Amino acid sequence: MIDHDVLIIGGGLAGTRAAVEVARTNPGLSIGLIAKTHPIRSHSVAAQGGMAATLKNADPSDSWEAHAFDTVKGGDYLADQDAVAILTQEAPDVVIDLEHMGVLFSRREDGRIAQRAFGGHSHNRTCYAADKTGHAILHELVNNLQRYNVTLYDEWYVMELIFEDNQAKGVVAYRILDGAIEVFRAKAVMFATGGYGRVYNTTSNDYASCGDGLAMTVAAGLPVEDLEFVQFHPTGLYPVGVLISEAVRGEGAYLINAVGDRFMAQYAPSRMELAPRDITSRAINYEVRAGRGIHPKDGSAGGPVAYLDLRHMGRKKIMERIPFCWEEAHVHLGIDAAVTPIPIRPTVHYSMGGIPVNVDGRVRRSATELTDGFFSAGETACVSVHGANRLGSNSLLECVVYGKRTGFAMANYVEGRSLPEVDSDRYIKAAETQLQSVLDNPGTYRVNDIRQAYQDCMTEHCGIFRTQEIMEAGLVKLKEIRAQAERVKLDDRSRTWNSELVEALELRSLMRVGEIILTSALNRRESRGSHFREDCPDRDDEKFLQHTIASYSPEAGVTIDYMPVVVNQFEPKDRKY
Ligand code: FUM
Repeated sequence: MIDHDVLIIGGGLAGTRAAVEVARTNPGLSIGLIAKTHPIRSHSVAAQGGMAATLKNADPSDSWEAHAFDTVKGGDYLADQDAVAILTQEAPDVVIDLEHMGVLFSRREDGRIAQRAFGGHSHNRTCYAADKTGHAILHELVNNLQRYNVTLYDEWYVMELIFEDNQAKGVVAYRILDGAIEVFRAKAVMFATGGYGRVYNTTSNDYASCGDGLAMTVAAGLPVEDLEFVQFHPTGLYPVGVLISEAVRGEGAYLINAVGDRFMAQYAPSRMELAPRDITSRAINYEVRAGRGIHPKDGSAGGPVAYLDLRHMGRKKIMERIPFCWEEAHVHLGIDAAVTPIPIRPTVHYSMGGIPVNVDGRVRRSATELTDGFFSAGETACVSVHGANRLGSNSLLECVVYGKRTGFAMANYVEGRSLPEVDSDRYIKAAETQLQSVLDNPGTYRVNDIRQAYQDCMTEHCGIFRTQEIMEAGLVKLKEIRAQAERVKLDDRSRTWNSELVEALELRSLMRVGEIILTSALNRRESRGSHFREDCPDRDDEKFLQHTIASYSPEAGVTIDYMPVVVNQFEPKDRKY
């Protein structure tokens, strides 16, 4: 058994920022950080456009209140407003702190940090490092792990949260290198395991974003919150789905349809291409449905994409501000975006929901009770600063603000506590049996085929446009696919670098999370933010100004409850742009 005072699962922005804060708060604590990949390859490294904060460098009239209002309206009033106030008030300080750690933000001519426009934000407040902001921040945070003596366990797959008597006591993990199984024990355990984009077939997320943390949380008997709110980013590069940053539109690019119209004029006339993502993604799909989409091969009408048009921006600005997006289009499609528009369509990008936490990152057991020793932050958590739709450049901010707060809270929580009792032999034996049963399964189905079928089903039945009928049919199909998944056969039966085994375990996470997304969406009979039901097109504050709290058990399946939203500053209004 390996012991630490604090154990963090996940090496992205939230996990690494938390680790730094634990060490800064109490340098005497022993901190372990377990990650499925090397931390530098965490999905945070792919974040492009920036991080919002009211530094007022570009716009002196900005304020945290304006940032808070934009965030709450952007989230269609489902965000908890106490958590949003903390996010927006603490934003400038966390950016300056990152700068002091060495993060190379882009600069204005006067030497101060540059800030650009982003969707749904009323002021230019997004700080950035060209279009590689996640890369710039994560590298500094990972450097700091060494400086603060954090013990790193990279390329370990965490299989189970040890949760007994309402207390998190550690995790069971296996080392991908050689299949060794180990119990890690700690006084405080934090999940910073990222999102679940791979539940869908087209996503900007990396291969590791499978919702493992969410699946382990529900397996421990704990609930998850608001999983029906799945963000589709409007500009996924067609056909692969990788991200073309919103920064491209923040710097002035247009969205055009097959007849060359900037169609956002019909959907969000005051914000145009910089409307919130839910509205922009639906607008693209409405254009496609109406036959004004484009065939990317020959530019003719009736195809599945819209164009992101940079041609008027000029090569100099493109290469200075958004070089990576230019390069993506060039590498994947052979396009020179300075002279040819980029074919795009919405791609699954972000999970607004997650593990329910309070503003110190403490995981909730229910609407009214907290767990002991269990913390979470970042995309996998739901402190609900994004409500029903996140604004671009608020997620890096959430990772850093709430990663920091959670690190501080954990350092204080473990003070004076001793390590919990854990029967490590029992956990290791159970994990061995589980791994071996996956390896030995004499089934007939391939992991990839089952995963593809599952992703296709979620994409078809719980996408941008939803109805009761479509979702009910989806649930039936998911159950059939899940039955097939019991009969998955692996070609590689070794324990050494067995990526097929990792995929088989990830498939279990994907399937658990997908079923909860779909069931939560079916139960929310309204439209709000990213959750758009064609059979219930209006927001219904009377019934659904509430967070979904979903649990799972093998006997009862997915069960749904609701929890009040904190509304203390901005009363819900019509949401128009
Ligand atoms: O478009 C982007 O650069 C994404 C940013 C974000 O999701 O915050």
